Amino acid sequence: MSEPKKLYIKTYGCQMNVYDSERMAETLGGQGYVETKSPDDADMILLNTCHIREKAAEKVYSELGRFKGLKAEKPDLKIGVAGCVAQAEGEEIMRRQPLVDLVVGPQSYHRLPEMEAKTRNGAKALDTDFPEEDKFEKLKNRPKAKRGPTAFLTVQEGCDKFCAFCVVPYTRGAEVSRPADRIVREAQDLVERGVREITLLGQNVNAYHGAGPNGDMTLAGLIWELNKVDGLERIRFTTSHPNDMADDLIEAHGTCDKLMPYLHLPVQSGSDRILKRMNRSHTAESYLRLIERIRAARPDIVMSGDFIVGFPEETDEDFQATMDLVEQVKYGYAYSFKYSTRPGTPAAERPQVDPAAADERLQRLQALITQHQREIQDDMVGRKVRVLFEKTGRLPGQMVGKSEYLHSVHVSDADVAIGELRAVEITGSGANSLAGILV
Ligand code: SAH
Ligand code: SF4
Ligand code: F3S
Repeated sequence: MSEPKKLYIKTYGCQMNVYDSERMAETLGGQGYVETKSPDDADMILLNTCHIREKAAEKVYSELGRFKGLKAEKPDLKIGVAGCVAQAEGEEIMRRQPLVDLVVGPQSYHRLPEMEAKTRNGAKALDTDFPEEDKFEKLKNRPKAKRGPTAFLTVQEGCDKFCAFCVVPYTRGAEVSRPADRIVREAQDLVERGVREITLLGQNVNAYHGAGPNGDMTLAGLIWELNKVDGLERIRFTTSHPNDMADDLIEAHGTCDKLMPYLHLPVQSGSDRILKRMNRSHTAESYLRLIERIRAARPDIVMSGDFIVGFPEETDEDFQATMDLVEQVKYGYAYSFKYSTRPGTPAAERPQVDPAAADERLQRLQALITQHQREIQDDMVGRKVRVLFEKTGRLPGQMVGKSEYLHSVHVSDADVAIGELRAVEITGSGANSLAGILV
């Protein structure tokens, strides 16, 4: 038998790209590829890219430039670009960087085997279609290898919301939900391979409306189906849009035992004027009321969010409204970004905020978020949580896992195996993690 060919994949961007990279590795596994951790001994390099902000997209070109030497040494090496930059700038990548052999968009990667064969014949391959066929069905025949205790599972993809700053509706396409039975089967398969916690993924995951046995199912309906899967201990989902936070989903947070008390619910801004200009179709007030209802269903839930500062025309008052909203919600985690102009999106044409002002706002917002994050973490000291152990720690005998609230918890001299779920009493709070003892 010939030596297996080696595949190196580097993943940028969101969790869906992590999931997609796993699927691409599996697809190419059928072509005789095994994964390698180093680009130096690869026969094929794939960059799975993100287009969300300018910096993310530019990284791709600099990374590609670094492979010039490798390709000169190894003319048979194939270099591919996948993901959202591939979708948005496929032709341009081919033009700007001649060492690229293959460009594949997020909706076409089930076609990778044919594309790879084409490159073996010395041709270039580009596919950025939005094909009719169900790529997930074409991606079956997974190897049954053991895997770690946590996994992502895409249930919904694409977005019809068209926020004025965002490229996702263009790179991922229109919203599509997978049928519920296929998702449940995939979850069962993951559990058989050692998975205990599944994070359901979608760009608008709570807009999920996949086919079920009695018509379309909601995300809450799907979660209740997954709640029945034996051996699955925890369910999470991300990313939600405030407008799709249906009553049955809020209720599930109070009643579904496997659904974890953590919710990522991006708001982007606390100013109604800016929210309107962003085309978010919710107000600061409606968002705050929504959180009240979620907290009524599950009082200990930890909230997380996303913010953009320096959106075109944002004034100091608008920014202050964002700070006020953060004060009111008090997030356990939050991700904040300086607005980045994305060509082709409506906001790109508008008057931009002075970059220095935007930087200063970002720093202030991040300081406040960090302070809250730390307070919520410190409040865990003395409490009992349940930890799903995921890996060994840096110190001998130390094990690290996540609490239901997604806090990292490490336990010293822990007699536990990876994949075990155990009660832990929190004894200390550090910069980015908690310390605890088994109870
Ligand atoms: N589907 C998710 C978000 C996907 S992008 C949602 O609807 O919330 C993740 C985050 O990146 C967004 O929530 C937003 O805060 C940020 N983001 C998106 N476009 C951006 C841009 N042009 N500049 C800066 N941040 C941006
Ligand atoms: Fe982008 Fe808005 Fe869609 Fe989220 S909801 S993916 S921010 S367009
Ligand atoms: Fe980036 Fe595409 Fe995800 S733009 S954030 S990789 S959907």
